[in-house]
Amino acid sequence: MTGNNLAIIILAAGQGTRMRSRLPKVLHPIAGRPLVGHVLTTAGRLGAEHVEVVVRHERDQVVAALAADYPDAIFIDQDEVPGTGRAVQVAVDALPAEFDGDVLVLSGDCPLADADTLRSFLDAHRDADAEATLMTAVVDDPTGYGRVIRDADGGVDRIVEQKDASADEAAVSEINAGMYVFRVGVLRKYLPSVGVANAQGEMYLTDVPGLLRRDGSRVAASVVSDVTVTFGVNDRAQLAEVGRLLNRRIVRRWQLEGVTIIDPTTTWIDDDATLAPDVTVLPNTHILRATTIAEGAIIGPDTTLVDCEVGADAIVRRTDATLAVIGAEATVGPFSFLRPGTVLGARGKIGAYVETKNAEIGEGSKVPHLSYVGDATIGRGVNLGASTITANYDDVNKHRTVVEDEVHTGSHTTLVAPVRLGAGAKTGAGAVVRKDVPAGSLAMSVAPQRNIEGWVEKNRAGTGAADAAARSRVAE
Ligand code: UD1
Ligand code: CA
Repeated sequence: MTGNNLAIIILAAGQGTRMRSRLPKVLHPIAGRPLVGHVLTTAGRLGAEHVEVVVRHERDQVVAALAADYPDAIFIDQDEVPGTGRAVQVAVDALPAEFDGDVLVLSGDCPLADADTLRSFLDAHRDADAEATLMTAVVDDPTGYGRVIRDADGGVDRIVEQKDASADEAAVSEINAGMYVFRVGVLRKYLPSVGVANAQGEMYLTDVPGLLRRDGSRVAASVVSDVTVTFGVNDRAQLAEVGRLLNRRIVRRWQLEGVTIIDPTTTWIDDDATLAPDVTVLPNTHILRATTIAEGAIIGPDTTLVDCEVGADAIVRRTDATLAVIGAEATVGPFSFLRPGTVLGARGKIGAYVETKNAEIGEGSKVPHLSYVGDATIGRGVNLGASTITANYDDVNKHRTVVEDEVHTGSHTTLVAPVRLGAGAKTGAGAVVRKDVPAGSLAMSVAPQRNIEGWVEKNRAGTGAADAAARSRVAE
C-alpha cells in the first residue's frame, strides 16, 4: 500500500566529506542523474502525499540542480544541529500538523533502492503493525554501517553506529540500510529526546528504535535478500561500484526488452535513454541522457551518443554525437563527430573524419569523407565530395550555406558562407565557392592548369626527382 497518508523524507544535507569533492556528494551523477535524483525519481513512483528533501551543505547548488526536474519536492533547510536525527526532525516539523500517516525515510546517497523494493518494505511495515520498521541486510563486510543489535527473542533492540560500537557489536553482520518507516507520531515524540552524546556529536536518527524499545514498543525489521539495494555512496570507490550496479540493472532491463547488448561491462546506458527491440549495441558504447534508438539500429563499437535520436535500422559506429538526429537506415562513422543541431535524413551518410554542427542533411545525401559541415542546409540526394568544407565563420559572424537537391561537389570544395548552390549544381575539384551557383551550373574557381616542361631538371638538378625525370625522358 502506498499513496495517501505517506510522507517521504530524503536526507541530503550532509557534507559528504569522504568524497573529497567540490561537488556535494548527493549531486555526483550516475546513469545520467545525481545520486539524490535517483532517490527522488523512485520516490515519485510511490505516489506519496509529501516528498521532502532536507538540505544544508551547498543547499543552493543542491536545490538548483533538482528543483526543475522534481517540481513537487519540497526543500527543507536543516539548521546547524548536525545528524540524521536532526535532519528528519526539521522535515517532520515542516509537515502539516494534521498529517498522521507513515514517514518513509530515505538517504540521498542510496540510489539503488527501487520502487518495488520500497513498496514491499512499506507493505512489511503495515503487515507487522509496528511503530517503526527498519530495512536491514546481512552483509559480508559491515564496515561503515550501523549494526542492528537484536534482543534475546530475536527482535530489534537498537542500532549502534560503527564509531560507537564495542568489538562484539562491530562483529554483527546485520546492517542498518538507512531506510526506515515510522509512524509520524513516533518521530514527533522521540526525536526531541535524541541527544548528541556519541562519538560524532550528532543527533542520530538511529537512536529512535532503541528509545521506542525502552518504552516497550515494537520495532520491526525487514531483511532484504538483495543486499545491493542497500548500498550507499560515501566515497568515490563506492560511487563507481554503485554506478556499475545501476548500469548492470539498466542493461539487463533492455536485454529483457529485446535489445542485444554484446558486452554489458563496457556498455553504459543512462536511466533516461530508450532502446527499441532488435537494437544491437556493440562494445564500448555510451548511450546517454535522453537518447532514443529505434528498432533494428546497430550502435557501436566505441560510440557515445548524448541526447540523440537514432532512426530504425541506422548504423552508427565509432561516433561521438550530441543532440543529433540520425534518420532511418542512415549510416554514420567510423570516426564521425556530430555536434548539436545535426539532422541527418533517412538513408543519408556521414562518413569517416567528418564533423557536422547545426546542419540539416537531406534524405539520401552523403558526406562521406573528411568534411566539415556547419550551419548548413543540404537538400536531398546531395554528394559532398571528399574534404568539402563549409567556411561558416568570418571571425565575427557565423553564416549559412544552402545546398539544394542533387548537388555534387568536387573534392576539396570550400563553400564560403553565406552561399547557395542551386539544384543539381556541381563544383570542380578544389573550388573555392564565394558566390551563389545557379541551378545546373558547374562552378570552377581554380585557374586552368599550366605544365612547364623541363622545369624540374632545370631548377632541381641533382635531386632524385630530376634524375627520375631524366630517366623517364630517355625511356620514351
Ligand atoms: C547512516 C546511518 C547508519 C546506516 C547508514 C546506511 C545514522 C547516524 N547512521 O550512516 O546507521 O548504516 O546511514 O547508509 O543515521 N545527512 C543529513 N544531515 C546530516 C547528516 C547526514 O541530511 O546532518 C544525510 C546525508 O546527506 C546522507 C544521509 O543523511 O544522504 C546519511 O548520512 P551519512 O553521513 O552518509 O550517514 P552514514 O555514516 O552513512
Ligand atoms: Ca551514507
